[in-house]
Amino acid sequence: MAFKSASILPSSISIYREGKSNASLKEAGFFGVSVSLPSYLKADCNCYLIRSKELRRSELQLPIGTIKAQTATTTPAIDEAAPEAKKTRRKGNVIITGASSGLGLATAKALAETGQWNVIMACRNFLKAERAAKSAGITKENYNVMHLDLASFDSVRQFVENFRRLGMPLDVLVCNAAVYLPTAKEPSFTAEGFELSVGTNHLGHFLLARLLLDDLKLSDYSSKRLIIVGSITGNTNTLAGNVPPKANLGDLRGLAGGLNGINSSPMIDGGEFDGAKAYKDSKVCNMLTMQEFHRRYHEETGVTFASLYPGCIAETGLFREHIPLFRLLFPPFQKYITKGYVSEEEAGKRLAQVVSDPTLAKSGVYWSWNKYSSSFENQLSEEASDTEKARKLWEMSEKLVGLA
Ligand SMILES: NC(=O)c1ccc[n+]([C@@H]2O[C@H](COP(=O)([O-])OP(=O)(O)OC[C@H]3O[C@@H](n4cnc5c(N)ncnc54)[C@H](OP(=O)(O)O)[C@@H]3O)[C@@H](O)[C@H]2O)c1
Repeated sequence: MAFKSASILPSSISIYREGKSNASLKEAGFFGVSVSLPSYLKADCNCYLIRSKELRRSELQLPIGTIKAQTATTTPAIDEAAPEAKKTRRKGNVIITGASSGLGLATAKALAETGQWNVIMACRNFLKAERAAKSAGITKENYNVMHLDLASFDSVRQFVENFRRLGMPLDVLVCNAAVYLPTAKEPSFTAEGFELSVGTNHLGHFLLARLLLDDLKLSDYSSKRLIIVGSITGNTNTLAGNVPPKANLGDLRGLAGGLNGINSSPMIDGGEFDGAKAYKDSKVCNMLTMQEFHRRYHEETGVTFASLYPGCIAETGLFREHIPLFRLLFPPFQKYITKGYVSEEEAGKRLAQVVSDPTLAKSGVYWSWNKYSSSFENQLSEEASDTEKARKLWEMSEKLVGLA
């Protein structure tokens, strides 16, 4: 068939089961902050306002495959039975980036429905997010929409400042948004001139997470968490991750050069532009970043750092740039042949578990789910668990986003 590219997403159709693929078929603002706080938050927020003013002064003025263990958790257990969470006697506050569609929206809905969470939907298109929340039936008292464009560092910093102005504690941050450009012939760039997939999926989230870590530290919530959504496609220890073009950050020379496509390659490894590979590389960065956060900050802060592969959610907007034939055939292929398919609703429940389930509070874990929808600690590929590469990526990213 005359498809080009896509693994689970990217360059080919892949068969995936229980954390391991076993076959593959090759183919082809506006500024919208809800400033009125729900009444249940007001009491908690007064003292927090004082601390968040201190944060504003400091951080924001900086210049510009093997299953290791099976948990006893099945998908629907979201938070209701969390005795620790009840200690705080207030709702948790969770920021979810890219909550205007797909996994982010489904997660927002799953958390909001428990009545235990106030969801901050951090989205680049305010109206789209408002409409999405409404049509998903999320009730107004359980969410706010705030503008965030991860393809602009100014927007990320503005978002953090706007969030702090709300004066509400931050208990969980979910870095979920992503772009995937498998058919692009030429690279596109962020506001600061970085290749768009890595610039958005990795660098935008890196800056956001670094800035908001200080807010998470201040949270008095029983289990504070920072979650970065990963993907099987970045893991070359799976068959899906072995579908060309494979993720490979090389020696990071393109990143060191600024990923601008002018005096450096737009690709992290310094190679020719390939949109599907850029997405997979960005997912490796996401997974390396989560582990580096864990090594640097878990002990000191008590924050749980986690990543996950929620399953193949074959119908989300992530595939919007793919060729129409791919979009037509990919969902039934995943549903009936690979059985790797999960619905948006199921995937949303999985991510919601990582946000709130007390049995998934372990830090440094890359979560996956088996065919019975039970979570387990999955193993990352050699590259995605390379500590030296994680350190280098961290240090280079700090420089690129203006934190060092
Ligand atoms: N679908 C899968 O099979 C699958 C599998 C593994 C992992 N994942 C991961 O799941 C996460 C969510 O993907 P999805 O499948 O739910 O895709 P999706 O429906 O396309 O959702 C992506 C979200 O990211 C937002 N976004 C894109 N660029 C942004 C930017 N510059 N600033 C702020 N938000 C931006 C989009 O906003 P707009 O609505 O404005 O476009 C959208 O809300 C991604 O991290 C992806 O890598 C997906």
